[in-house]
Amino acid sequence: MFSSILLVLGFVFPAPRSTTHGWHPITFSKSLKSKPLRFSFPDESFVAWRGENGMVHVKHDCCPHMGSKLSEGYVKDNCISCPYHGLLMGPYDNAHPDGYARELVGVTKEHQGIIWWTRTNNFDIPHCDDLEGHIDVQHEYLIKASFNDCWRNAADFHHPAVVHKNSFGNTLNSPTNVKHEWINEYTFRSTFEYISSESYKRITGKKTNNYHEFVLPSTTYNCVSNSDNNKKMVIHVAMRAETPTTTRWFVSCKNTFANFPFSSNVIESMINKVVTEEDGAQLEKMEEDHVKMKHSYKFKLEHDDVIDSLASQTIPNILERKLIFLSESKISGNKMTELAAPICEELATYNSSVADLMPLYKNTKWDVLIAHYKSPKTNTVEYVTDSECTETTKMTNGTVYLMSADFEDRGDNKGHFFNLYATMFHPNGEISNPTKLPFGAHGFQIMYISDDIMIRKGDVTGNWEVFRKNKVPIDIYEESSHAYARFIEKL
Ligand code: FES
Ligand SMILES: [Fe+2]
Repeated sequence: MFSSILLVLGFVFPAPRSTTHGWHPITFSKSLKSKPLRFSFPDESFVAWRGENGMVHVKHDCCPHMGSKLSEGYVKDNCISCPYHGLLMGPYDNAHPDGYARELVGVTKEHQGIIWWTRTNNFDIPHCDDLEGHIDVQHEYLIKASFNDCWRNAADFHHPAVVHKNSFGNTLNSPTNVKHEWINEYTFRSTFEYISSESYKRITGKKTNNYHEFVLPSTTYNCVSNSDNNKKMVIHVAMRAETPTTTRWFVSCKNTFANFPFSSNVIESMINKVVTEEDGAQLEKMEEDHVKMKHSYKFKLEHDDVIDSLASQTIPNILERKLIFLSESKISGNKMTELAAPICEELATYNSSVADLMPLYKNTKWDVLIAHYKSPKTNTVEYVTDSECTETTKMTNGTVYLMSADFEDRGDNKGHFFNLYATMFHPNGEISNPTKLPFGAHGFQIMYISDDIMIRKGDVTGNWEVFRKNKVPIDIYEESSHAYARFIEKL
């Protein structure tokens, strides 16, 4: 059954943060009435409120006066009123005239029964043609699983036969005629044919045509249709990661298969079972993402290339490729870090749902791709253990320059190099005595790590540095003398 072994190492889909491009679901339109609502991302929490005029607005859920949660306040004349000292906030004339009290965060829109919000309004709002008109069921779930697990589950063709065997899953037939493509830079579509379980077949008919769309950053919908009887069902799931281990699902369903009195109650209980007792129960059993990064995604089942394709075009991947492309240009030094800065800035918003990046950084060799100190055509490799660091640079004239330092993990993805020494290894075998470098220390914060790329920011300089995981043994060590090898061993 395991058809091949993936050559790439594991990756997790990054949990969308509040700054991630695209539209994020806040809640269903029907759920936001007069009481303000606190909603969260892994990075920040916000308050949404519906003014008396029906408009929905969003601010940080922290009062600009003394920090009360605004979601505990109430709506007054379209403004939100802080529960502590009554400050009125919102874009209206009766709000406090101060800029902070007037300013909203991002843009809010209601579409297909969902309140959507974006900070970077550069994608179209997720729209599903088949969900137009009356929607039968809209239900919210808090799933105890990372965004990565939820997103993969939606793209996974193999679990229905096991996890959904007591509902629609067919234990005998896999999906057939599976095809997939990117429709635009943020919409991915797969199509397939499926034969449901015996009990569901009575409703859906023998073979169904299905499409499944994924709209970045976190919305997906699945349509099952039967051309024999012209019926269809759409299950639409808009997701929002709240923490690294919890994801909120807003599930909408529209169906013409079951059309009898109380059929929406039947559909609703069917969805409850599939989402909570089947998918939700399985997703709670998943190992943490950082462990998966080490041990998982090494086997590929027949249709798992769909998941790889879904990952291949995600925005972080595009940004990573831009950085690699830039590093291969003739530009260097500060000009290079200047050009890389906006890309790094954006990539940092896609950090993975793994909170502690240090274990992924340590004990791995990293090629320096972009750094203010890097000269073109030199090859620099950094290697960090729990307490030490070496950075080896091979110059174009064959000289190898070794920098060694002590290393300290300072928590919150911050690291610190100190006691920096430099040693030169000349091509003729001569080794210069280690000299202490004039600058004492180098502090940094890791902002992003994927399977391939690591980016960090210098504490003092504010400069971005980009590294690529070193996948092949480098020849720098081989070319050096015996003494050099012994010296390295002693470090
Ligand atoms: S803390 Fe909100 S008005 Fe004072
Ligand atoms: Fe499922």
